[in-house]
Amino acid sequence: MKLLAKAAKQAQRAYFQRILVYRFTSDSSPLRKGPRSTGLECQWFCASSQEIFSTVRRLVEVRQNFINEEEENALFKELEPGLRKKRYEFDHWDDAIHGFRETERLQWGDVCEGVLRRVREVAFPKGSSLLGPVHVLDLDKAGYIKPHVDSVKFCGSTIAGLSLLSDSIMRLVPENNSAEWVKLLLSRRSLYILRDDARFKYTHEILKDEESFFSGQKVPRHRRISVICRNLPD
Ligand code: OGA
Ligand code: MN
Repeated sequence: MKLLAKAAKQAQRAYFQRILVYRFTSDSSPLRKGPRSTGLECQWFCASSQEIFSTVRRLVEVRQNFINEEEENALFKELEPGLRKKRYEFDHWDDAIHGFRETERLQWGDVCEGVLRRVREVAFPKGSSLLGPVHVLDLDKAGYIKPHVDSVKFCGSTIAGLSLLSDSIMRLVPENNSAEWVKLLLSRRSLYILRDDARFKYTHEILKDEESFFSGQKVPRHRRISVICRNLPD
């Protein structure tokens, strides 16, 4: 039984590792360190320059309060028992994600299924095939996601994620210019959508609590659960 569980776990890690084709980017740029940005900003979007602002703004979306508290509770109640059985993983220094546990889910109760139907309706191009199981990622308060690009082999043009339990900051950096960046303020209960080049030509990451600033304001990072839908490549 134990062996079986271990094999299942390994298979699951392999599956997620295929999704996460990640890259390390330099931490030495001052832009990556400074909590204060002088970039261009709107309520949930800020950028290091006008050019990247206009390029990326039309490829990303954050819908604040996409779910209400009841729906957040329903998702949490459905996910927590399974998540609680796992331990947060901190020890893989070379993983894209630090301080996390994860699962995937195909079958949902009515309320959650309703939420996911709305996500699919607003986020994905009509007729696109979705990756069957929904990916659930639980980040510890001390957890974070390093810059990476989701596998182009296994995932298509669009990534859509619900954020539960905590606000957080997602940063996108062009793969070919690490001096530029945009930040998305992912408020608790929001839905974010990354499309096309924003998903293919930029790394994305979720900042650790110490680096979690938006427009000069600290955005405290607590435990955060994301529920992520992806489509399949064409
Ligand atoms: C990922 C990822 C973002 C999130 O799992 O590949 O980028 O919102 N997750 O948790
Ligand atoms: Mn990702």
